[in-house]
This record gives sequence, C-alpha cells and structure tokens, in this order.
Amino acid sequence: MTSELSPLLSDTAPGRGALRPARSWLHSDAPSLSLNGPWRFRLSPTAWVSQDFAAEGFDDQQWDSIPVPSHWVLQGDGAYGRPIYTNIQFPFPIDPPHVPDENPTGDYRRHFHVPAEWSAADRIVLRFDGVESLFRVWVNGVEIGSASGSRLAHEFDVTSAVRPGDNVVAVRVHQWSAASYVEDQDQWWLPGIFRDVTLLVRPVGGIEDVWLRTGFDNGQGRLDPEVVADSTAFPLTLRIPELGVEQVWSSAADVKPLMVADVQPWSAEQPRLYDATVSSATERIALRVGFRTVEIRGDQFLVNGHRVVFHGVNRHEAHPERGRVFDEEHAREDLARMKRFNVNAIRTSHYPPHPRLLDLADEFGFWVVLECDLETHGFDKVGWAGNPSDDPAWREAYLDRIQRTVERDKNHPSIVIWSLGNEAGTGSNLAAMSAWVHARDAERPVHYEGDYTGDYTDIYSRMYSSVAETEEIGTDGARTKLFNCTPSQSIRQRTKPFLLCEYAHAMGNGPGALDEYEALVHRHPRLHGGFVWEWRDHGILATTPDGTPYYAYGGDFAEVVHDGNFVMDGMLLSNDVPTPSLHEYKAVTQPIRFTFDDEKVAISNLRHSADTSDLRFRWRVEHDGTPVASGDLDVSVVTAGGSGWAELPHVAAAPDAETWLTIEAVLAAATAWAPEGHRVATAQLDYSVSRPAPAVRPRKDWHPGDGTLALGIAEFVGGSLARLAGRVVTGPRLELFRAPTDNDESPSDGIEGSDDSTPGVSHAELWRSEGLDRLTSRRLSVAHAADALRTLDKVSAANSGAYVMVESVWSLEDGELELRVEIEPSSGWGSVWPRIGIRFGLPDDNAPIDGAEWFGLGPLESYPDSLRAARMGRFASTIEDLAVDYARPQESGHRSQLRRLTLSSGETEVLRLEALPDLYGRRPGYTLSRHTPQQIAKARHAFELPESTTSHLTIDAAQHGLGSRACGPDVQPEFALRPQARTIRLRLTAG
Ligand code: GAL
Repeated sequence: MTSELSPLLSDTAPGRGALRPARSWLHSDAPSLSLNGPWRFRLSPTAWVSQDFAAEGFDDQQWDSIPVPSHWVLQGDGAYGRPIYTNIQFPFPIDPPHVPDENPTGDYRRHFHVPAEWSAADRIVLRFDGVESLFRVWVNGVEIGSASGSRLAHEFDVTSAVRPGDNVVAVRVHQWSAASYVEDQDQWWLPGIFRDVTLLVRPVGGIEDVWLRTGFDNGQGRLDPEVVADSTAFPLTLRIPELGVEQVWSSAADVKPLMVADVQPWSAEQPRLYDATVSSATERIALRVGFRTVEIRGDQFLVNGHRVVFHGVNRHEAHPERGRVFDEEHAREDLARMKRFNVNAIRTSHYPPHPRLLDLADEFGFWVVLECDLETHGFDKVGWAGNPSDDPAWREAYLDRIQRTVERDKNHPSIVIWSLGNEAGTGSNLAAMSAWVHARDAERPVHYEGDYTGDYTDIYSRMYSSVAETEEIGTDGARTKLFNCTPSQSIRQRTKPFLLCEYAHAMGNGPGALDEYEALVHRHPRLHGGFVWEWRDHGILATTPDGTPYYAYGGDFAEVVHDGNFVMDGMLLSNDVPTPSLHEYKAVTQPIRFTFDDEKVAISNLRHSADTSDLRFRWRVEHDGTPVASGDLDVSVVTAGGSGWAELPHVAAAPDAETWLTIEAVLAAATAWAPEGHRVATAQLDYSVSRPAPAVRPRKDWHPGDGTLALGIAEFVGGSLARLAGRVVTGPRLELFRAPTDNDESPSDGIEGSDDSTPGVSHAELWRSEGLDRLTSRRLSVAHAADALRTLDKVSAANSGAYVMVESVWSLEDGELELRVEIEPSSGWGSVWPRIGIRFGLPDDNAPIDGAEWFGLGPLESYPDSLRAARMGRFASTIEDLAVDYARPQESGHRSQLRRLTLSSGETEVLRLEALPDLYGRRPGYTLSRHTPQQIAKARHAFELPESTTSHLTIDAAQHGLGSRACGPDVQPEFALRPQARTIRLRLTAG
C-alpha cells in the first residue's frame, strides 16, 4: 500500500502536468483516436489502494468493464455506489482542503493502438474533456500528470510515453478531493470519466490554437485573428469562401485584423454563420464564424448596437440515465425545444457544458452566458470561514479554472458574457479571475452574481429578487439602497445593465408571476431579463423493488445528507415533458405582442433585430369553442422594435354562444427547430354579448324534511346526494385543502411582503395546523320546498373554533338540476386558503369516470398567477393527462374559468355540468383526479399513491396562486386567497 496520494488529494493547486495555456476545442483534420468505449474498471472504497494497477503489465483480467464516458454511480446497478444529491451541503466534513478517507476511487485501464505513422508527429496529446473530481494518469506505466476541474478540459503531452502499436493508459479517479470544495453546485455528485477521452496528433507545422474574434458594424464584418503556431507552421491561410476571404500569412507578423464587406451579422434570432478554415501545410482547422459586436453602453447591454433582452433558462447537463454525460441528439432536441418555447438565452449553470453544446448554440441561435466551473456555497454553513474565494492558496486554481473556461470556448459567437461561477461568496480570487478575463477578452463582459456591490464585474446580477425589488433596480427616482450595497455602491450598480441570472424557481407546480417580471423588462431598459431556474428536472431513472420505474431525487439513494426534491425544479420533467410553466413562459415571452383596438390590431415586434418576414398571421373565430370562420391577416413586415397594424375580420357575436377571436403569428416556413405553421405568438379577444346568469329564484315555502327525495337526475337520502344520473355519487363536501405544492411547503424567510410570513413556517404547515386537510362536518338542518332541497352544514376541524357554514340548495330550474352552494367562513381563520371548493366522489361502479371535455380555459392547468398560456376554448383530456407528473406528487390539474364540463366513462358521456358565473362574473375552475388532495399530499412519489376506485371532481370557486417561494418570492398579495365567502352555482344534466 502506498500513501503517495495524500498531498494530491488535499492540494489546492489544479493538478500537475496538464498543458498550459489551455487552448480552444478545435475541429482539426489532424489524426486523432477516440478512447471512448469500454475500459477495465475497479472501484475501491478509499483512496488508499495500491497503485500497482498503473504498471504496464498489470493483469486487469479480473476487473469489470465500464463505458467511458460515464459516471460509475450510474453503472452496474448500484455495484459502484449511488449518486448523492445535495444543494448547498457538502456531503463530507467541512475540513478544507481535506477530504475523508472514505473516498470512492475508480481505477481505469485500457489498451489502444498507435499507428506507426504517428511517429512523425510533433507531439501526441491526451485530452480529457471531463473527469470528476481529481484524476491521475499513466501511459505505459509512466506517470503523466494529474488534474482537477471536473467540467474543464485537460490535455497532457504523452509523446515520450507512447509508442507505435499497443499502449496502455491507466487513470485513477477520486470522487473527493480539495477540488470538491470549489465544485459545490446544486446537483448530483457524479464521479467518473464522464466526457470524452481523445488522443490527438499534433503535427509538425500544426496550428496550436486559433481565435477568430469578430465584430460587426454597419454591414461590415471585422475579423481579428489570433494564431498560436510556431514558425514552421507558416505560411497559414485563412479562408471564408462564402465571403471571398483568402488571406495568406507568411509569418506571425502578418496576422492582422481585416474588414469584410457585405456580411450578415450573427444574432440569436438570425444565427448567420460562415464556414472558415485556417490551414498550414499539415493541418486544417475548421471554424464557424459569426460576426457580432458585444458592448455595454451606459446601462445597456448591446449586441450589434441593439439592446438584448434575455429570455433565458439555466441549463445543467442532466439526463435521467446518463447524468452529465453528453448526448448530442438529446442536447439538440433540447435546444430545438427551447427555441419552440421562445427561449433565446442559456446560462450554462454552473460550469462549461460539453464543448459541442456551444457549436449547437451558435447554430440554433442563443445568447449564452458561459459560466466557469466554480461554487463554494457549502462554506455558508460556517459563516464563509475559509472560503477559497478569498484565500490566496486557491488563487492558482481559480485562475486555472477561468483560463480553461475562456480558452476552450472563446471562438463561439453565441457566448456574449463570461460568468466567473456561482455562489462562491466573494474575494480577491474572483477579482483576479475577472481581471484575467478583462485582459484576455476585452469585449465580453464579466458576470458574477455574488459580486453584489459591483467591485469587479461589469453586469449587475441578482437571483430571485422580488418583482418590487427588481423594479427598484430598474428605477433611479427613489434611490433605494440595493441588496448588500451602501448608497454609493447602489448608485454604481445602477450604472450597469441588470440581469436576473436566476429567477422564477420552477420547482413542482409553479412558478407564478412570470408575466410581472416580463413586464418590468419593457418598462425599464436597464433590466435585461433573466434566466429561469431551471430548464429541466435532474431526476435519475430508478425502479422500485417491484419494478416500477420512477425518477429518483435526493434521499432515494439513502444518502447521509441530501436535499430531497430540490433538484426537481425544471420547466421540463425528467422525461423531457414540458410542464405548464414552460408553456406559460412561452406565452409571457412571446416576441410578437398584439393590442386590439376596435377593428384593428397593433402588432409589435419586440425582437432584437429580426423583422417579421418569417411569420404569417392568421385568425379564427369560435362559438363556444367551436371554430366557425378563419383566415389570414394581412400584415406588412414589421421591423424589430417597430409596430404595425392589421385590419381584423368582421366578427359577428353569436346571440347564444360565447364568441372569441384568436389570432396567431406562426412560422411561414420550417426552421431547424420547428415546422412550418409553428405558433410563435397568440392573443384572444372576447366578442361575446353579455348574458347574465339567471337570477336565483326566491323561495318562501321551505319546511323541515327528512331529505330523502328525487329531483330530476338527483336522488337524495337523508339530505345527502346519493345518485346522479343513476350513478352513485358522494359529497359534495367542502374542500379547502390542496396537496401542497413545493412552493406551499417552503418556509417563509420572514422578510417577504406576503401574507403569512412567519419566519421558518410554510403555508402548508399553517394549513395542516388549522386542519384544512381534515375537515369534519355537522348537519344543522334539512329543508324541503317545491322542487328543492336545502341543507345547512357546519364544517370545521378538530381543536379549532373557526368554521365554515355551507348552505347547499338543490332545485329544478327550467327543468334542469341546479346546485347552489353558499360558502360562509366564520371569523378566526388565520392563514391564506389553498382553495375554496366542493368535491364530489364518483365511485367507479364498473364504469370509471376517465375523461373530461370542457369549454373554459385550457388546454393545460392554470392558476391565478399563471394564466397567460391558457386560452378560451373547448378541450378534452383523459383523467390521467389532466394532472402533471411532478416528481413529488402535489396539487395539479386545475382548469380555470370553466363554462361547461362533460364527464365521460370510455365513450359514454355520463354527466354534464354548466358553471354559472357568480355576481361578480367569476367562474369556478375544476379538477378531476383519481386521488383526493389528502391522498396526494401523503405520497413522495407517484408510485406511493394508493390504488384508486373513485374519480374525484372538485369545483373551485377560487384557488390560491402558485408563487415561487420554494426559492424566491411568495404568491403576490393580489393572488393570495384570503378566507372569504363564495358562491358556486352549477347546472347538472345527464350525459
Ligand atoms: C440558487 C443556485 C442554484 C439552485 C437554485 C435553487 O441559489 O444558484 O444552483 O440551487 O438556487 O434551486
């Protein structure tokens, strides 16, 4: 046994022997050999294992085989340990720079064949694109070096160690090392060689590195090339055939900036790329050049002279089976999906992605904030004592990280901002990183959210600031002090462009208020939009002991410390299904806005620089959701930032149906990311003639009764509904509870201006303590009248004096069954309410209610602060598809502003409901589910839900908003549901 490793494991330096300076990840025609594929593998529980395996002749026949790239914890069905999820917590003692002896260590070996011709190479380089966290390399038994910086590329010169014919490479990877202290991002800890390993020939006369910096000004492109090559590489030729560029450089002195005429600029909207090559006699490098100028002018962030609004997402590399192993097809599909949902920007949270992702970002068109692999959030636990960001011992590692980040990806036009990292406190090492970037790449601004006071960064950035606080940042008048800033620092920050590097935490059902953030961007030019947290859930595909597949989150792998489902906070579920929040996002950020004015509609183009010539505009009229007419709108091309008008068709309102006009902007031709006809933007206008609900018929003939009778399709026993349209029905009972969303479950930080902000207490806790999930009821009276039944119930919870009186009146009106429920709360209710509704139970009775068709808002779920994606129409769904499969079961499926609903069993229509508006014109929403809120609230995963024999229909007079409290602001007061009296009126008929 040797203990040679100990100095490396706790070494704050980034490793020994990797080539410096780092260089671009280039597409070269020099020979290379991919070492991806099966490697021999052995896992040891500690770092203290013999290094004999590195010897050339070591016998690895008894070892397992593992694919490279992969994470060992996602291979071998648990044989190599399990993933660990933590957000901020370090899953090891905070004892920097040391890590525990329990340190899973993977030893890898493989043979490879070096062709004889490679002997002519100048050098042979071994490149690792990503290894977590610290690794050490030997070739043919010769120690080559070591490196840390998990999501960064490292190259080693192996020329003297390799030989023609058979060779063997051995790699030792430690899960934990000093580097783990600076890689504390909120994600799974996933050790292993998880990106490509490649052997590269560096030819004599080859090109070490190229940087084609570009600019764009008034139709002219600027190229500012930088080449790293020794004198044997010259002459070099730069070619951009499409632009007629052919420049021969005889020596390094010739490599100078040049102007190129008739160039189309690159933007996220029109990602114009030109193929370029730089060649020597022995090597050709292929690049794709995009011309664009990034600039900060005053407090504006501009590309090609136009202000950029970031409609962005935070993107992690996450795949349910592969973890952070890159899959190009999957990534490509993800980016296409982003484009379809009007996402125009990506923050590569919180590390550089696989380098190919940036090729795709250039090609599809995204504004990219490229973030360095750095986070030390766990030091928060110890008051930031010993934080590496302010400790000179870590300076070299910090500089190494940012250099590897910038050098690898510097050629990409999509990257418009460099970000130093995330949640690493603050300190001189971060300032040093920023200084290095400024010297190396003067054009692209530096971002780092943790520099609250703006001491060393160019952009003012915050995460999760409330709408009100964000607005204050955009405004000068009040001169409010900004977060963590003195008055003068606040003034300094207000001179910079502002970005929300994270906002709208999309955990579970939510977020609310996306539209309010968006509105700010158009009111205050300093505010440049932001990046939703986050693009996708990081669930890991697992199976229960009985073989049911599910997406695992923190705690599902018996981790010692973990952060539960905080890793399931994407707008996309783990299985790529967009949640309603992504649809909401798309609607809120649509680049084309419509304003109706009489017979015309104003069409505003909010894009950065693209006009509307790629779009077609169409309209349709619906009566109660049924299309009756449609056509195209005649719209002339609207330039970016401009607006135009279109005549609306003549719309005649139907006398007996709601009449709605819908207009849409759709793609006129297919793009790389969507087919022709794809909807980019939409708006609706209500032409309906107002038809007030029938007045409540006054009755004077009430008299006590036993409550056993039939009224139209309803049968009552003892005052309770027993059957509807011949089917057994239970309820309706008052329902004030919803299965808490992740936002509802999140404790208040006590500083928000919301209702119920007791520090450390969540809404859900208040609801449970008030007994909203366990209401009981006592019947006070039953009365009969001609064609009518009235009951009065007092509903309350154990150990509570507060109650709700519920008066239910069943009657026949115009031959139809009507139910009117008056919900009247007593005083003394403390918290906001999740909902005010009534719930029916519809037992299966051999014919389960399994489908719904409705006229109202749809097609997806909606809540008071997330209504923008919903449109008025007629929709149908199976009961399963009405709810979203959030990783942790919770409230889902509410459809707002219901007009009519038909419940069906298979092909058979069972029951029809018409929802009448209340006195204020408000309509209820509905939820149809196989489980009650109480059942859903108990399950951590969908597979824990009990078998169901009943469908449950809840008609809600109101629902509480969603908010974003899981990480950020609570439901805005205007969408918070305070206890209040409400009326629900339904007409029911048999199907
Ligand atoms: C932020 C952090 C993200 C993520 C998010 C909550 O503070 O930067 O990495 O943890 O909160 O999901």
